[in-house]
Amino acid sequence: MKPKVYITRKIPNEIVSKIEAVCEVRMWQEEEKPVPREVLEKEIADVDGLFCLLTESIDQALLDRAHALKVISNMAVGYNNIDVEAAKKRGIRVTNTPGVLTETTADLTFALLMSTARRLVESTEYLRSGKWETWSPLQLAGQDIYGATLGIIGMGRIGEALARRAKGFNMNILYYNRSRKPVVEKELGLQYTEMDELLQEADFVCIMTPYTPETNNLIGERELSLMKNTSILINTARGGIVNEDALYHALKNGVIWAAGLDVFEKEPVPLDHPLLTLPNVVTLPHIGSASIKTRMKMAELAAENLLAAIRNETPKHLVV
Ligand code: NAP
Ligand code: GLV
Repeated sequence: MKPKVYITRKIPNEIVSKIEAVCEVRMWQEEEKPVPREVLEKEIADVDGLFCLLTESIDQALLDRAHALKVISNMAVGYNNIDVEAAKKRGIRVTNTPGVLTETTADLTFALLMSTARRLVESTEYLRSGKWETWSPLQLAGQDIYGATLGIIGMGRIGEALARRAKGFNMNILYYNRSRKPVVEKELGLQYTEMDELLQEADFVCIMTPYTPETNNLIGERELSLMKNTSILINTARGGIVNEDALYHALKNGVIWAAGLDVFEKEPVPLDHPLLTLPNVVTLPHIGSASIKTRMKMAELAAENLLAAIRNETPKHLVV
């Protein structure tokens, strides 16, 4: 009898075929709607493998319903949607997709930094709504990027890829990380600082840590108050790292100048969220890794990880 696998979203046929060569596959058939919890609760009962996205909360209550599960393969590098300890206790392996999305996510992070600094979204709306009547000296004037100081919080794979891009813009780069990275520091000419100093000095603060109990609300009212009133916060990591209430007030009251957000505490962000009312916020629907090639690579890697665990081999990217 073939092992059973449940896939929580419609993924490309060629990836499904690879899994079907080894497993009996059931799949949620929608592309734009996540699998309802009650469906997932039923589907997980008898499967050996789960191929899931960051939209699914894989918690203890769900795992209690899984009677044959060997592996949870997340099609994402971040795995804060999974109770990893609960999986480990039950002998279930957890895998993720690091590396293949690093450059694409760094591209988007730098694009968001540039759009926020130079007010691209606001400018497009200005033109389309017929407000553009003339050229004037301070019309839609933004902040310079070339030669500015970038502070990166979390110098991992994406943090480093971002620093490489910033070097091309002659930026002075500060970083704060849980552990110091002397090799990268030397290679890219980065300066390590404590977090408070980084917040005080940087013109742009980019968050690139995972979301963990330690990084929950890492940036709150106190941290925002340390930033310059001309500074810009960019978050493409996870929404919960920034306290959104504190961010709203900081942006509204001119404590900081602007923010670029690809991620939110609650996703999709509710349309009546106060942050969406501010002109100095650029908001994206969690598209950091969203290039066609990269999403294919992530799906392929998630399938490889899943199949390796099902074969009792060691997956390439094992979280636990
Ligand atoms: P990574 O290589 O593991 O880098 C994370 C870095 O954060 C590591 O250097 C780590 O330090 C540091 N870190 C962890 N906890 C910290 C803390 N409490 N204080 C300071 N630094 C801390 O991961 P990555 O591949 O760069 O991805 C980073 C995150 O980006 C992911 O977890 C995910 O949430 C997010 N992401 C978002 C998108 C998107 O679509 N918007 C796409 C991809 C990734 P150590 O070196 O000491 O471990
Ligand atoms: C996307 O947010 C990821 O973690 O891969």
